[in-house]
Amino acid sequence: MSGHAEPAPIRLLMIDDSDAAFLTLRAMLGPRRDGGARYAVTHTSDLAAGRADMRAGGHDCYLIDYRLRGESGLDLVRDARAAGVTWPIVMLTASNGVEREAAEAGANDFLVKGEFDRALLERTVRYAINNAEGVRRLAELNASLEATVAERTAQYAEANRQLLDQIHAREQAEAALVQAERLQALGRMTGSVAHDFNNVLTALFGSLEVLGRRLGDRPDPRLAGPLATATEAARLGERMVEGLLAFARRRPLAPRLLRLQAVIGELEPLLRLTLGAAIALRIDTDPHLPPVLVDREQLERVLLNLASNARDAAAGRPGARFALSTRDGGDGMVELSAADNGPGMDPHTLEHAFEPFFTTKTGGQGAGQGTGLGLAQVYGFAVQSGGQAAIDSRPGEGVRVRLSIPVAGERVADHQALGAA
Ligand SMILES: Nc1ncnc2c1ncn2[C@@H]1O[C@H](COP(=O)(O)OP(=O)(O)OP(=O)(O)O)[C@@H](O)[C@H]1O
Ligand SMILES: [Mg+2]
Repeated sequence: MSGHAEPAPIRLLMIDDSDAAFLTLRAMLGPRRDGGARYAVTHTSDLAAGRADMRAGGHDCYLIDYRLRGESGLDLVRDARAAGVTWPIVMLTASNGVEREAAEAGANDFLVKGEFDRALLERTVRYAINNAEGVRRLAELNASLEATVAERTAQYAEANRQLLDQIHAREQAEAALVQAERLQALGRMTGSVAHDFNNVLTALFGSLEVLGRRLGDRPDPRLAGPLATATEAARLGERMVEGLLAFARRRPLAPRLLRLQAVIGELEPLLRLTLGAAIALRIDTDPHLPPVLVDREQLERVLLNLASNARDAAAGRPGARFALSTRDGGDGMVELSAADNGPGMDPHTLEHAFEPFFTTKTGGQGAGQGTGLGLAQVYGFAVQSGGQAAIDSRPGEGVRVRLSIPVAGERVADHQALGAA
């Protein structure tokens, strides 16, 4: 052993109520001439002290009596393990046949009292120490594995959530694109039909005018009635063609530099008239919004179309209201929004509401009938003005139509500012 520091003795604590058993053990583990491991054996018959020592980890191995003064050594082991004690424990039993119980309680090994010699004792202690160390490592590994699994699971969940968000955003973008493309295709078709129909109307108006003039010379009451009816029908046709052209963005526009808030303010009396007394009008416009370059007549028509839709939808509902508001939409856009607290739209209506001739107002006559051109005009106006239109609605939650319109370019603004409304 010369030159080498001696290894520290293995510290054993015996928890046992028998002093004799302790003395035997200590004698058995006394120093040996031929070297080998050295032991420092201590003893306590005080259960509480033993328990405290196990928790603090004051020894390298614990030898615990199976039966401790009325109390069970097994319980002591169980309690210690439950409290997270991982130190090696050897159970000392009076007989064979309890090894399974001891193992289940958490002992690393056991010895039958009076049936072991020094060699078996040493082997058992060494084994218990190794076994406890293995168990401890396994538990650590298990814990770190669980932590890794939990971390990975969280990472996967996060990645999955991001993926779902992306899919959702993409689906929405695709749906919006499909909708825009559909409306565009519909616009092309509508535009050419309206154009042809316009020619028919022009011929019709020409002939009606000639007839009117001739009648003017020789008034004939039998002809005046049908002529008036025909002229009225032709006018209706003209309005429809206008609606179609507006949707198809083929209506010639006369854009002027306008402030939405000013136009809305001036139109207020007409909007109130359209809504009727039963529907409250709320106007919430931003006085500092920059001007936009739009056709005033078409803009007014948009506002009146939206108001009449709100009237049709919200009529007869207590607390019905229609709110017009404007705000800075960011990115050089101004947002105009028209919201009501009517019954809202079902998904089918929402999908088709912008299409010309799509109407759910088919019941009754006169006022109950719709042509389905109101929102088509709204949509056409927004797009032809360089902007966009969208509808937010859910059944039972009212309708909000949002138009975003580009702010007039700065040079235009400077140039025309004095003439702006
Ligand atoms: N504010 C609203 N609340 C609930 N549904 C609405 C609202 N506005 C429009 N709709 C639905 O969208 C459809 C299309 O509206 P749009 O204004 O284009 O046509 P319309 O009102 O039916 O007829 P028109 O405006 O030509 O008289 C309506 O028939 C209705 O079903
Ligand atoms: Mg309408």
